[in-house]
Order: sequence, then C-alpha cells, then structure tokens
Amino acid sequence: MTNAVTNDNRYFRTAVVPAAGMGTRFLPATKTVPKELLPVVDTPGIELVAGEAADSGANRLVIVTSPGKDGVVAHFVEDLVLESKLEASGKHHLLEKVRKAPGLLEVESVVQEQPLGLGHAVGCAESVLDDDEDAIAVLLPDDLVMPRGVLETMGRVRAKRGGTVLCAIDVPKEQVSAYGVFEVETVPDATNPDVLKVTGMVEKPAMEDAPSTYAAAGRYLLDRAIFDALRRIAPGAGGELQLTDAIALLIEEGHPVHVVVHRGSRHDLGNPGGYLRAAVDFALDSEEYGPSLREWLIDRLNQPSGE
Ligand code: UTP
Repeated sequence: MTNAVTNDNRYFRTAVVPAAGMGTRFLPATKTVPKELLPVVDTPGIELVAGEAADSGANRLVIVTSPGKDGVVAHFVEDLVLESKLEASGKHHLLEKVRKAPGLLEVESVVQEQPLGLGHAVGCAESVLDDDEDAIAVLLPDDLVMPRGVLETMGRVRAKRGGTVLCAIDVPKEQVSAYGVFEVETVPDATNPDVLKVTGMVEKPAMEDAPSTYAAAGRYLLDRAIFDALRRIAPGAGGELQLTDAIALLIEEGHPVHVVVHRGSRHDLGNPGGYLRAAVDFALDSEEYGPSLREWLIDRLNQPSGE
C-alpha cells in the first residue's frame, strides 16, 4: 500500500494490531462483519487505532487477521473508483474521509490461521519485522485510549529504562476482576509519578486478591525478547497462548517491565455495552450529530423506562 508516512520514530516503527479474534461477544453482528469494522459514529474502530499508531510515530501497521477477515485490511486500500465518483460529484468532505485510512501509514497483514490466543497472534507478526527492529508497539483495536499520546510516553520510558512498557488505567476497585491487573512498585528516581515498575500481573483477580487497581489497557511496547518468551510458555486457559504469561516470564527472568498509568479515558469496543458508550461519547462531541443527539437523549432519559 502507498502513502506511507515517513516518520523518524526513535522508539518503534511497527505497530501490530491483533484482529484475528472471534468477536463472540458481538454475535450475531460478527457472523459476517469483523468487529474491527464496526463504526464509532462513521469511522471503523481499527481506523481510529491506526490513526493513534500513526500519530505516535509508527510508519507500519501490521494487522493480524484470520482467514476470511480480509475486509479489515481492505479498509486501508485506496478505492480509486469510489474516490473519482466522489470527486466528480463534488463531495469533497466525504472524499477526504475515504482517503484518510489509506494515507495514514503503510499497512500489511499476517494471517493467524486459528484463534490460538492474543500471545499467539502477536507471535505471528515476528516474521515481518526487520532485523534491526528491537521493539514493537501492540494496540488492541477493541480499546480506545484517549486522549492519544500514551504510546509516546511509553516510548520515552523504554528509552530511559529499557525493556518492555505497558499501559494501565486506574479502575474502581469493584471493577478489577474484569481486567488483567498489575502488581507494581514505585520507581525511586521517577520524574513521572505515573511510571511504575511491574513486579507481577494477575489475570481477572477477585477484588480481594487484586494487587492494585491498575488494569491493562490494550497498549503495549514490547521488547523483541517477547517472541522468544512466547515460544517458551505453555498454552493457558482454553488452549490459548496468553501474552500476559509471556510478559510474566520476562518479569521472572529480570527483564525490566514498567507501566505508564494513563490518566485519561478508555472505551472497550469489544462488547456491545462498551461500544455503545464509545459511539454516544464520540457522537456527542461531533458538530454534525452532537446537538440533536444531546437533545434526544435528554428527552429519552426523561421518559419512564420501558416506554
Ligand atoms: P479478545 O478476547 O478481547 O477478542 O482479544 P475476541 O476473541 O475477538 O473476543 P470475544 O471474546 O470472542 O468476544 C483481544 C484482542 O486480541 C485479538 C482480538 O482480535 C482482539 O483484538 N485476538 C484474540 C487475536 O488476534 N487472536 C486470537 O487468537 C485471540
């Protein structure tokens, strides 16, 4: 694909977006439509995430897809017929929107033949990396982390402390059991109090067992050592290779792992409830749809439920 942004990023060049999951929480829609293409107002979630990757300085997006999910990559291919029709009919605003995704960064895909877990999906990207790439960013397309910018902070932390850097959000204690939760300690010489050292990670702990309220938020800056760790872990629950287990192995072996606590907001597009919140949030901020949606919502919320 063309129109690659040439960006001299010091931290990473390749952003990997695992998009080969089954999307079962979104059935029946995901029977034929990949969840990554479901629109947040008018823009597919994966385009929003690709925009974040490009903004953070990545110049290549590697989408991990499953067989038959070609539409996800096709979204980043120029459609010259559509573009010329929009141009001829003077629909310049739409033309700009249509051209955006193919112009963000260079896009390629690797196929994960079977959904063997997030860790396995990340491992599939190794084959397309250049020899001199010592780290990759991974962005889960289900997670919208706002405002943008956390990946740059993570890059600076890696430049200073080496190793692997993860992103966390501070969630209310009652919600910890829905997430991967970090065990952390403070970094004595940290200039940013939101940078913490990770000493362990627990997947979906009970509230009373949670080591902190810092939950994994779908952005990873992984040292290339992760691929070797992925080869050395055994499949976990459901026969899936868990990225968390590979990170835990690295921590055990003394590889530095830090977390940046993101103090913004986050939407989970992977389930209908979270997706709806994201859509309403984005629509309320839109000049085109915001005012009338706000009016309608107020009216709707004033109606007794069930009407
Ligand atoms: P999820 O478990 O949240 O996504 O994986 P899923 O499997 O699509 O969702 P449900 O549970 O069936 O509804 C997190 C991310 O990892 C990717 C998914 O596409 C999602 O972006 N993934 C997961 C893969 O690429 N391959 C896998 O084998 C598993």
